[in-house]
Amino acid sequence: MADTWEQLERECNGCRVCPLGERRQHLVFGDGARDAEIMFIGEGPGQREDEQGVPFVGPAGQLLNEMMEIIGLDRSKVYIANIVKCRPPGNRDPAHEEQLACLPWLRRQTALLRPKMIVCLGRIAAQVVIKPDFRITREHGQWTQKAGVWLTAIYHPSALLRDVSKRPETFVDLKAIQAKARELCTRTDLSTP
Ligand code: URA
Repeated sequence: MADTWEQLERECNGCRVCPLGERRQHLVFGDGARDAEIMFIGEGPGQREDEQGVPFVGPAGQLLNEMMEIIGLDRSKVYIANIVKCRPPGNRDPAHEEQLACLPWLRRQTALLRPKMIVCLGRIAAQVVIKPDFRITREHGQWTQKAGVWLTAIYHPSALLRDVSKRPETFVDLKAIQAKARELCTRTDLSTP
């Protein structure tokens, strides 16, 4: 039988395929519109996300909100998920095995959502979703199509917090995302104030 969002989230909440599930406070399943045309994919929950069970609610999330605002988006119009749904301890990168163990959940979320475009936030998401040897410094802002879905990657908001010199390039990438969304997304309002 086909998934429903409620059933998928419930099943995901019971997942103990990798050890991250044992140590988390909350599952961070996803946030936003479950019929969104645009999906953002990050890496994995940090401390604040683990506490609240919602992706991108810490400092990186604040910046992500501002980045979306620049192109007339907010969280209610998109869907936000992560490669791994449980917090890796100490904010380390999710291990390759953890990413692989969690990937079926993301696949099922994507199958339910059927987005027109996916924006990967940072290298890890880009390497899982776009291609394993994705180089974020060289390939951010480029577009490719897989199974009818347009894919791109931009710097992770945490990287932009650490290194403000990357922000002008990201502004260009965001404007390209806005243009692509205007071309592809018929139900998403992208009007900027
Ligand atoms: N960084 C991520 O990649 N995801 C979150 O949910 C928060 C920070």
